[in-house]
Amino acid sequence: MENLRVETRQRAYDIVIGNGLLSSVGTRVRSLFPGCTSVMVVTDDAVAPLWLCPVLTSLENAGLENHSYIFPNGERSKTMATLEQILVHMESCALQRASVVVALGGGVVGDMAGLAAALYMRGIPFIQLPTTLLAAQDSSVGGKTAVNLGAKNIVGAFWQPSLVLCDCDALGTLPARTFADGMAEMVKHGVIADTALFELLERGAHKTDLPGCIRRSVAVKAAVVQQDERETGLRAILNFGHTVAHAVERCTDYAVTHGSAVAIGMCVMARACEAEGLAANGTAARLEALLKALGLPIATDIDPARLYAAALTDKKRVGDGINLVRIRAVGDCFISREGVAALEKIIKEGV
Ligand SMILES: NC(=O)c1ccc[n+]([C@@H]2O[C@H](COP(=O)([O-])OP(=O)(O)OC[C@H]3O[C@@H](n4cnc5c(N)ncnc54)[C@H](O)[C@@H]3O)[C@@H](O)[C@H]2O)c1
Ligand SMILES: [Zn+2]
Repeated sequence: MENLRVETRQRAYDIVIGNGLLSSVGTRVRSLFPGCTSVMVVTDDAVAPLWLCPVLTSLENAGLENHSYIFPNGERSKTMATLEQILVHMESCALQRASVVVALGGGVVGDMAGLAAALYMRGIPFIQLPTTLLAAQDSSVGGKTAVNLGAKNIVGAFWQPSLVLCDCDALGTLPARTFADGMAEMVKHGVIADTALFELLERGAHKTDLPGCIRRSVAVKAAVVQQDERETGLRAILNFGHTVAHAVERCTDYAVTHGSAVAIGMCVMARACEAEGLAANGTAARLEALLKALGLPIATDIDPARLYAAALTDKKRVGDGINLVRIRAVGDCFISREGVAALEKIIKEGV
């Protein structure tokens, strides 16, 4: 079992990673919140048939009154309407300030259950039980919660969880594509801050020690979040590859999934930085080789001009300036404030 402590101004919490952890959620809620009597598990209709039962049994065995709310899986559910339904259900189950919300699922569940917990009675505790690799090492940590309203994640709050319990058994039922997508974010964490993690992945360590790899990966995210809780600066380093990734997603109407788009975005940036003489020779090839081995794409046939136009609509852009994450070598990235012309050049050189 792997353990990590995250200290934020809002609260400190543990991230626990291992196998067979879902059955411990009841006793953990009991010891973290001695005054808690009722728990609401929020999940989606793909995760519920697979993993809801052990969670409810665990809560029941710990003598906790349990309720659940299940919504249709997928990004299309990440709306104000679903959020309202969750809140209405919480109220009708008479959840109190001492109650706890449990988010069982991927990033969509975590973001919405977290926001519901942040809003209900002006904030009640919540626990993350991530069941996708993306949620395990990215969205479950950091306290960003949100729903979409026209634009993505436009309504949200910073609301840190009280515990993140990542049961790697649950990741075993993920479709191969979704798993590979999560690996793209793990590669990203290696590239921006942990060369040893990158090397472990090159040696295939995720196949033999997934909890250990997740711990290293989540440690990168946790370290950044602790230094920049409310996303005022440093947290932007996590966006490595993401400006182009978002453009790829938009140009393909989200047919290219997020992780695959991030893989392409990272390669575009690495190739462009190498062409400009900023990155060491071979940096892009090394990144490409690992992503390919993980079953991820490394290029796109979208026309660069179209990609650039889509990238310009990025919400992280302010006027003519944009924060780009540049790469010098694996494990060595930095945030660079540049004009949009630089982005056009990157896309031309890197695609
Ligand atoms: N809060 C943050 O900091 C943050 C960071 C990154 C992404 N996000 C958000 O996360 C969301 C994407 O998260 P995601 O990729 O986990 O998507 P998701 O939650 O939609 O999960 C992907 C699919 O996998 C299914 N699934 C989940 N766990 C499963 C399991 N164990 N076995 C089988 N199927 C399973 C889900 O039902 C869904 O259909 C986006 O909405 C994004 O905005 C948030
Ligand atoms: Zn991402």
